[in-house]
Amino acid sequence: MNSIQVLQPRYRVEECLEAIRECLEVGWTGLGFKTVEFETNWKVYTGLPHAHFVNSATAGLHLAVKILKDAYGWEEYVDEVITTPLTFVSTNHAIMYERLIPVFADICPSTMCMDPASVEKCITSDTRAVMYVGVAGRVGHLNDIREICKKHNLKLILDAAHMVGTTVQGRHVGAEADVTVFSFHAVKNLPIADGGMVCFQDPEFDARARKLSWLGIDKDTYTRSAGHGSYKWKYDVPNVGFKYHGNSIMAAIGLVQLKYIDEDNKVRRQMAARYDELLEDVRRPVDVYNEGIVSANHLYQIIIDDRDEVLLKMNEQGVYPGVHYVDNTQYPMYRDCEQQNDCQLSKLYATKLMTLPMHLNLSSGDVDRVAATLKGILNG
Ligand SMILES: Cc1ncc(COP(=O)(O)O)c(C=O)c1O
Repeated sequence: MNSIQVLQPRYRVEECLEAIRECLEVGWTGLGFKTVEFETNWKVYTGLPHAHFVNSATAGLHLAVKILKDAYGWEEYVDEVITTPLTFVSTNHAIMYERLIPVFADICPSTMCMDPASVEKCITSDTRAVMYVGVAGRVGHLNDIREICKKHNLKLILDAAHMVGTTVQGRHVGAEADVTVFSFHAVKNLPIADGGMVCFQDPEFDARARKLSWLGIDKDTYTRSAGHGSYKWKYDVPNVGFKYHGNSIMAAIGLVQLKYIDEDNKVRRQMAARYDELLEDVRRPVDVYNEGIVSANHLYQIIIDDRDEVLLKMNEQGVYPGVHYVDNTQYPMYRDCEQQNDCQLSKLYATKLMTLPMHLNLSSGDVDRVAATLKGILNG
């Protein structure tokens, strides 16, 4: 019996290899060439005004926090960013990298995304921003959070690592926030091995992201090589930046994957619908606070008691679900933050959420087998 893993990428191998071959033959594998084309196509796909391709969403989230912090003069060790404990640590590390204080708001028990009422309770005179995560591709209360941000003059950062392809009334998510960050990590909806896209609304912030992601140098090698004159080798370094930019090999894979993302997400939707049908009696998060959502369905999550025990029993039958996520306040670096707020629901659901296998290498028979295995254990 084959084992069924929770997440797994699928690539159009020949097409990706052809795109990589082009980079190798042209002799340009770094920043520029395919990265420019990927950014252009991403803007067309999402309708967002700016997009900068970086080597991970983690890097993109860091740039998002840093650029807003520098622009608005946020104070280290004093100013606060409201965030969620139910996320991958990258979300919160990005706040810590800039020595700002993460303040944890609780989640909404329907969507597992941040609860607007809890966010409002966390606001103090030191709050500067809200970091919102669209968990599993869900939109949750994003619109309400945006209104709260407007009312209190807070910046909104959207961690859209799971939201590649999530639309609301036909429009791709992202424009709601001051900056939105997508992930193309190996098991995301648009896998390229590693990469991310940081999408600012403000053109000046986009320009700054481009400089900071290339070590703070004011001209990239691609622009320099395209230039003329004897001073094309010359550049200035006005900032201490990072090595965060994406490269043409990853972008080449991204360009291929992007062509198929809607088709791929449709397959995910069909799988999710099949799980919904087979597991009618099992509780699961629901995205009910907006009209006309089409979710990226990055994760298929369910809510069950005795999660860890059930998970082990599924493993014995060759099915390997996942857990998204451990409540971040369990980790030593976020333990102190726990004292600020008591996120009871995050704590509770972190012990009950299970992610069922869902990816493009699964057959409909595999989906049925996962559901049958789960039901057998729950009913047994
Ligand atoms: C919610 C969330 N945010 C951020 C990230 C970081 O993405 P990346 O691996 O591209 O840095 C992930 C990826 O696992 C994620 O799930």
